[in-house]
Amino acid sequence: MTLDELRGLDGAKLRYALMDLAKEVPDAIALGRGDPDLDTPAHVVEAAKRALAEPLQPLQPVAGMPALREAIARRARGDHGVSVGPEQVLVTTGGQEGLFLVMSALLDPGDEILVPDPRYTSYDQAIEHAGGVSVTVPTQPEEAFDLKAAAIEPLITPKTKALLLVTPSNPTGGIITRGEAEKIAALAQKHGFVVISDEIYGKFVWPPFEHVSIGALPGMREHTITLSGFSKAWAMTGWRVGYVIAPKDAIDGMAAIKAATTGPVANVSQAAALAAAEADDACIDAFREIYAERRAILGDGLRAMGLDYTDPRGGFFFWADSSSTGLRALELSYLLLKEASVLVFPGTGFGARWSDYLRITTLQPTEVLREAVERMTPVVRRYADEAKARS
Ligand SMILES: Cc1ncc(COP(=O)(O)O)c(C=O)c1O
Repeated sequence: MTLDELRGLDGAKLRYALMDLAKEVPDAIALGRGDPDLDTPAHVVEAAKRALAEPLQPLQPVAGMPALREAIARRARGDHGVSVGPEQVLVTTGGQEGLFLVMSALLDPGDEILVPDPRYTSYDQAIEHAGGVSVTVPTQPEEAFDLKAAAIEPLITPKTKALLLVTPSNPTGGIITRGEAEKIAALAQKHGFVVISDEIYGKFVWPPFEHVSIGALPGMREHTITLSGFSKAWAMTGWRVGYVIAPKDAIDGMAAIKAATTGPVANVSQAAALAAAEADDACIDAFREIYAERRAILGDGLRAMGLDYTDPRGGFFFWADSSSTGLRALELSYLLLKEASVLVFPGTGFGARWSDYLRITTLQPTEVLREAVERMTPVVRRYADEAKARS
C-alpha cells in the first residue's frame, strides 16, 4: 500500500493497513498494537490445561460460568470500586465484544454518546452499528489529555444517552482524576445519562496518580456500566475474556444479544480467567515493574530524539507530537517503517484531528525497545534538522 492510499484511511482501517505493511518489512519492530507481549502467568495456563483434561465440557450459561461471574463480582470492589453480585456481571469474548454489546443494548438510533477525542476507535464502529451518534469531547495536551467535566458540559443535549470514559486512556495515557470524576458524576446524575467506564488498563496507573472508578462515587451505582477484561492486566489477549458490570436488567439485555450471536465464552478460556481472578495480584505487580522500566527507556529515547510528549499517567502508550519533524504523523510513521523498520501508529488512527500525533507502545522487551529507539533516532533527527533548515 502506498502513502497516498494510506492517506485515504483513518481509525481501525488505517491501523490494520499499517500492520499489513509492516509484515512486508523484514525484521520490523512493532510498536503499534496494544496487546501485551508478556506471557500469560503460569498458574493461569496450568488451570486451562487442567480444564482441558476434564472429559465433560458442558456448555456454560451465556452470561458466563457461575464461578467466574462470582469471582469477578468478588474482585469488583477492589478493582472497580463497586459492590455487585454475580447477576450484575456478564462474561464477554474480550472487552471488544463487551463494548459492542454495551452499545447495542444501550443506544437507540439517534441517541448521542459523548466520546473522548482521541480514543480507541473501535468504539466508533460499535456506536455506528447501534445507530448512535458520537459527539467528541476534546482533551488537551496542556491538561495531559485528562478528560474534563468542563469540556463535557457544553456538549450535553436532551439526546445525550451516555458518556464513554476510558481511564487510563488508549491512546493518550491520560486519566480521570477524582475531582473531575466527581464533577462528571454530578453531570450524569443531573442530566440522567449513563457513564460507560472502560477500566481495562486500570491496573496500570503510574504513581503518584491513582486509578479512579466513577462507579464508586455516591449515586453512580445505577448510572455506571463498567467494562474491563483479562487481556491487559493478565496478558491474556488471545484467550478472549472480558466482562461488563452493570445493573441486572442491562446485563440480561446484553446476554440476550450474546445468546443470539456468539453464545458463551469457550470453557477453557473461562477456566483460565477464573484462575486469574481467584489469585492475588502478584503477577500484575510484576508486570507493572516491567512496564515501568520500559516506559523509562522509551520516554528517555523519545525525548532525546526530539519528539515531544506528556508523561503518560497510565496504560501502555506514549502519545507523541510529530511536529518537530515538519511531517504529518502519517508521513512520519510511513517513513519510520520504511527507513527505520519500526511500526508506530499515526494519531489519525484514533480520531481525525490528531494528524500531528503518534501512538507508540511499550509492548516489547527492553532490548527490543532500545533497538527501536536506536533505529528511530537518526531518522527523526534528520527530518527535524531539515524542518529547522527550512524555517
Ligand atoms: C480501551 C480499550 N478497551 C477495550 C479493548 C478490548 O480489549 P480486548 O478485546 O482484548 O479485551 C481495548 C483493546 O485494545 C482497548 O484499548
